[in-house]
Amino acid sequence: MAELTTMEKLISLCKRRGFIFQSGEQYGGLQGFWDFGPLGVELKNNIKKAWWKKFVQERDDVVGLDSSIITNPTVWEKSGHVEGFQDELVECKKCHHRFKVEDLEDAKKCSDCGGELTDAKQFNTMFKTNVGPTENSSSVAYLRPETAQNIFINFDLVRQSMRKRIPFGIAQIGKAFRNEITPGNFIFRSREFEQMEIEFFINPKDDKKYFKEWVQLSYQWFIDLGIKKENLRKYEAKSKELAHYSKETTDIEYKFPFSSKGGSASGGDKGFAELMGVANRTDYDLKAHGISYKDDVNKEDFIPYVIEPSAGVDRAMLAFLLDAYEEIEGGRTKTTESNKEQETVLRLHKDLAPFKAAVLPLSKKEEVSKPAKELFTQLQKHWMVSYDDVASIGRRYRRQDEIGTPYCITYDFDSNDDHKVTVRDRDTMEQERIAIDGVVEYLQTKLD
Ligand code: GAP
Repeated sequence: MAELTTMEKLISLCKRRGFIFQSGEQYGGLQGFWDFGPLGVELKNNIKKAWWKKFVQERDDVVGLDSSIITNPTVWEKSGHVEGFQDELVECKKCHHRFKVEDLEDAKKCSDCGGELTDAKQFNTMFKTNVGPTENSSSVAYLRPETAQNIFINFDLVRQSMRKRIPFGIAQIGKAFRNEITPGNFIFRSREFEQMEIEFFINPKDDKKYFKEWVQLSYQWFIDLGIKKENLRKYEAKSKELAHYSKETTDIEYKFPFSSKGGSASGGDKGFAELMGVANRTDYDLKAHGISYKDDVNKEDFIPYVIEPSAGVDRAMLAFLLDAYEEIEGGRTKTTESNKEQETVLRLHKDLAPFKAAVLPLSKKEEVSKPAKELFTQLQKHWMVSYDDVASIGRRYRRQDEIGTPYCITYDFDSNDDHKVTVRDRDTMEQERIAIDGVVEYLQTKLD
């Protein structure tokens, strides 16, 4: 039997351990849609929390927004999406597989069966719906394909209500929908996904400075959350690769374990594919919506330029999972039963780990389980914590390692006498004996 690829192993782990499930699996699923299980929702929330903290909470020049998914359809006419949000689609005349032209090396020959491909057709990837009980052209609306447009049309309202002057940014995290021709590579390219976007409004004369700054800040955010440097790079898009609104784009690319075909639109090397993009959108969008700006202090009128760092939550999640995934042949937990087993460790950054700690009582006897449960309840007030009293301690350590829990706390038979527990570090496997009433402070120091 062929060895499973890293992606296959990760997909299996994600299902088995409650990170990611295929949406509607019971009825055969629906391509390009995913459900996030109990651990998946924690990881996703932690990614969003880390992003919001860095780019909204810790800055005084960025404010937040949470706008509707469906809005007045004129927004999408003015923005150019009704006319221009198109992919070129070709179909194989023999096997009827469909492809996005930009993913193909040869736009004439089917890469699956060698058959002849049809001429390219334009395909608008916005999902359409109808608002209200009638279905006619006047009730048509769209599910937003990016969160950005709702930021532009709220520019004046946000600026006035928050008394902001340029330069400042508006950040938003939310769902976006695209009827992708070829969803695939797990959650890399989906039809429903989440974006974390900032539209940073600036004086046009400063665009070079802010563009460079946001590229570096975006790159560094992934490094600070543990992505290995060798797996991350900046890719400057060529002019033919630019979106209709962009003067300049730099993608932050991750070395995914699949080729950029079916992945990046950036034409990057095999393996590197777009994780997020930073674009100089100029005054394209504000102009399209007829929005201008008056700087009362400098007495200047102009249409602001926009620098846009735009990241996908799902793509970031896939990169964090892949980067953290490590297999250790033969295992590292030296208990007799685990000696020969392969062990998997998810070395997620502590800010991202679904559970920050696990409480593991060494016995189910009440004298141990009762105080262990009390400690667990106390820790739950501060963090997401797991409680596991099933199977041997070695097996329980491995279960926590596999989902990335940074600290395991063992309550044993001595704990009632010395009022101490053993804390084990996921990465170093070092164990420390610490006072039970000092566990919160200990974890606070380690985690914060
Ligand atoms: N507002 C700009 C914008 O939407 P984009 O390059 O089309 O630009 C930004 O998308 C990010 O959103 C991408 O870098 C990627 O992380 C994520 N993204 C885009 N399409 C996606 C899809 N079909 N599935 C998952 N993530 C996607």
